[in-house]
Amino acid sequence: MDPLITLFDDNPPLATPILVPDLLALYGGDLVMPLDLPVTDSTVEGDRAYCYANFVATIDGITSFNLPKQDTGGEISGGSAIDHAVMGILRARADAVIWGSKTYHAARRFLPTPAAIWPAGAAVLAAQRTRLGKGSAPPLAIVVTASGQIDLTGALVQRPEQPAIIATTDAGAARLGDITGAAPNTTVWSFGASVPPAALLRRLRAERGVRLALCEGGAALLGAFLATGALDELFLTRAPQFAGRSLAMPRPGLVEGVAFAPASAPWAILRSLKHSGSYLFERYSLAPHTART
Ligand SMILES: NC(=O)c1ccc[n+]([C@@H]2O[C@H](COP(=O)([O-])OP(=O)(O)OC[C@H]3O[C@@H](n4cnc5c(N)ncnc54)[C@H](OP(=O)(O)O)[C@@H]3O)[C@@H](O)[C@H]2O)c1
Repeated sequence: MDPLITLFDDNPPLATPILVPDLLALYGGDLVMPLDLPVTDSTVEGDRAYCYANFVATIDGITSFNLPKQDTGGEISGGSAIDHAVMGILRARADAVIWGSKTYHAARRFLPTPAAIWPAGAAVLAAQRTRLGKGSAPPLAIVVTASGQIDLTGALVQRPEQPAIIATTDAGAARLGDITGAAPNTTVWSFGASVPPAALLRRLRAERGVRLALCEGGAALLGAFLATGALDELFLTRAPQFAGRSLAMPRPGLVEGVAFAPASAPWAILRSLKHSGSYLFERYSLAPHTART
């Protein structure tokens, strides 16, 4: 696989790279998070997990074809090997991976582990997690649902080696009931009338020691994180195709469920830009920045 070519990167280099040598070469540089820097300020290392999202979108900003059995990011990326490798690297950095319930159901056969998305990289991804002090445990998996309507046959809640949390409302928790027998390594967290993203990130930090949380979507969940200022960074792969959408065939963009006003729409700052052939790999930081710089 050809390595990414870095066109721009304003992330500060560290004396000792975070990425292991093979991933450093493939990613076209290091993958430094603010929490890696020797001096962290209170806006970065606060009382909640730092949250970065990763998505792939078409040129026209579509994130799912929304067709039966053709509704995952895989169709959007065209099964791109380098995109899968980047997903694996981003998962390897995470203490927890967060999915909305529709993403969970669309990907019910899959686990949110580094090796699950890039099996050929399993050994180097395991070495990366060892280097980060994360041992052999997979990232904690989180499924967010207001309704509690979760099919408990999905791999994420069925595999005993995969710890998982279903984050839901009081009503959702009541609907789920006691899942101990149905999903052995899964815990239900109830947050009241809604699931505020920042409250979820605070609880992950306080109760599970999660410092880095990766939100893998979908668009409705990303909208909730953006709308509440709970998103710190976005990694966005731009796949060189157009998906289109119509009234008869609605398809999610990158952000759904929230419509910002011009005066309050969040702005982002480009942190790095890479490419592999015609695929672009963009990295943006958000909170606490809102300036158009
Ligand atoms: N291209 C990509 O990178 C990418 C990434 C991820 C997903 N996808 C695709 O995008 C589609 C799914 O995206 P989506 O936007 O339709 O759905 P989604 O964000 O995956 O899930 C939406 C559901 O999550 C729950 N939810 C979201 N925010 C919540 C909040 N603040 N509090 C409580 N519950 C919340 C709700 O579940 P309940 O309805 O259960 O209450 C909501 O209906 C799938 O086709 C998936 O494969 C693509």
